[in-house]
Amino acid sequence: MKVTIVGAGNVGSTCADVIASQSIASEVVLLDIKEGFAEGKALDMMQTSTTLGFGTKIVGTTGDYTLTANSDVVVITSGIPRKPGMTREELIEINAGIVKNVSENILKHSSEAIIIVVSNPMDTMTYLTLKSTGLPKNRVIGMGGVLDSSRFKTYLSLAIERPANDIHGMVIGGHGDTTMIPLTRLASYNGIPISELISSEKLEKVSQDTMVGGATLTKLLGTSAWYAPGASVGFLVKSILNDEKRIIPCSVFLDGEYNQDDICIGVPCVIGKNGCEKIIDIDLNDQEKVKFSESAEAVRKMNLAL
Ligand code: NAI
Ligand code: 2OP
Repeated sequence: MKVTIVGAGNVGSTCADVIASQSIASEVVLLDIKEGFAEGKALDMMQTSTTLGFGTKIVGTTGDYTLTANSDVVVITSGIPRKPGMTREELIEINAGIVKNVSENILKHSSEAIIIVVSNPMDTMTYLTLKSTGLPKNRVIGMGGVLDSSRFKTYLSLAIERPANDIHGMVIGGHGDTTMIPLTRLASYNGIPISELISSEKLEKVSQDTMVGGATLTKLLGTSAWYAPGASVGFLVKSILNDEKRIIPCSVFLDGEYNQDDICIGVPCVIGKNGCEKIIDIDLNDQEKVKFSESAEAVRKMNLAL
């Protein structure tokens, strides 16, 4: 199985590291436009294989798309990240040009690949990729929900002082500070509803912290986060390549589901070898439905800037 990652920056290289060190694919190609950058990252990572004990081949290239040929999955992380005070949305103009150009080049050499879009504003970039390539909707998946859900579960684990691995929870809606929807009502710890373990005030605080989770890190780091984003992409790639059919919140094209059309936004999806194999239309309550439609309106407004 071969995975190409476009953009060898913070998120792209972390994602390559996760995929290689967990032996998720047999080959990873890292491509960047910065001269020698992807080659250097690939070589450095390859030199961890003896100590970490993996056999994945990692190839780096400065813009040679022929090396990406016949990739099963392609991850697009190329573009500029957020700086403190910037929203994901402010990246649109620069990143739209990059994402469109990259997806065209990718498909020339990997016509069957499943594309995972990471570049921000991710829901809009996913929509752009789908529209500009004309690919079937199952093959274009935006990554945001895995990361937002993992932040949600981390904050929940800190609030209830229990291990994060025993917590279930999901964030749907847009991948934006005001558009994401942590589904607090459905979150649970080993089958116990979270609402039975903490007060509604604490749960609301967890929800707020989750929503600004990316901005909090951007402020601390001076740029956007990469460990959890890279690991989140690895998790998604694994579900595709191993045909795990996990239910994972991803930004995908809606065609009537959740009462929405012509938009890419985060919803629970069955992720397997064919990409997004099914959208799970969960039964939201009235309040969640309102939040979802407001989130979709905000994402739709952003798409108008394309
Ligand atoms: P970064 O600046 O570290 O890396 C981006 C890389 O893309 C750079 O190395 C740059 O040279 C490369 N690049 C630019 N144009 C290119 C092109 N045309 N072809 C190939 N490579 C090109 O940025 P970082 O932190 O890795 O973030 C990447 C993107 O991912 C940003 O847009 C950021 O906002 C987004 N992001 C999205 C997340 C999500 O959950 N969806 C989470 C974290 C970041
Ligand atoms: C994040 O959520 C900025 O999308 C990026 O960390």
